[in-house]
Amino acid sequence: MEIIVKDSVEEMSKAAARMVARTLNAKPNAVLGLATGSTPLGLYKELVRMHNDEGLDFSQVTTFNLDEYVGLTQKHTQSYHYFMHENLFKHINIPPQNVYIPSGTTDNYESFCKWYEQRIVECGGIDLQILGIGSDGHIAFNEPSSSLGSRTRIKTLAKQTIDDNARFFDSAEEVPIYAITMGVGTILEAHKIILLANGKNKADAVAQSVEGPVTSLITASALQLHRDTMFILDRGAASGLKMLDYYQWIQDKMPDAP
Ligand code: GLP
Repeated sequence: MEIIVKDSVEEMSKAAARMVARTLNAKPNAVLGLATGSTPLGLYKELVRMHNDEGLDFSQVTTFNLDEYVGLTQKHTQSYHYFMHENLFKHINIPPQNVYIPSGTTDNYESFCKWYEQRIVECGGIDLQILGIGSDGHIAFNEPSSSLGSRTRIKTLAKQTIDDNARFFDSAEEVPIYAITMGVGTILEAHKIILLANGKNKADAVAQSVEGPVTSLITASALQLHRDTMFILDRGAASGLKMLDYYQWIQDKMPDAP
């Protein structure tokens, strides 16, 4: 695991955008795994800027989103379809047929989930997966006690997640109770993973994910088993890490490593 600590959310977002750009430069038809939530907003803004100012090209890119609320239509302003369209897709040159987001309104979730997994494989797997983290340590909507081998499926949201996400809705009662989400096992198959986190309210989840035991109670801790995962954090999110000085030492010394 590589831990990168930045002084601000802007720097965190820019570092992640540079990693995305590096992936696309090396492989213009890369497959990206994308996340929602407030954390990746700065990253998407920076990617849009790079597209406009530097010609970052998405014309051959394919994307798979992590999750969607069950029951929200694509036009619902809190659906992840709407979020992705408004914050990224409508501003870049990605072909709409290359965009995959789990459906929150299919009439057959079981076959949809199988199809989604199959499409990821048919597209060659995810080259770079972007993740945020919930305050309870979840990735995508893999709530505590999710199997670390889980695949795309329906999950019942934890009370904590409903409360956390209520800020985007008029009330907690409006937050959907179920979501369709890639599994931890699906995520672990991505070739490279970047987890972004900012703010002190994520410090405990980050510390447990990086330095705690691998446990289904903190699904982000499964990333310890992945061979190419980078956490890009601001100082608040990094503040609970016991080995922070060591990670910064590595960050400083890495460029000169043989
Ligand atoms: C939701 C999403 C996660 C996201 C989390 C954190 O639960 N399913 O993918 O990481 O929210 O959101 P935020 O970045 O707003 O803190």
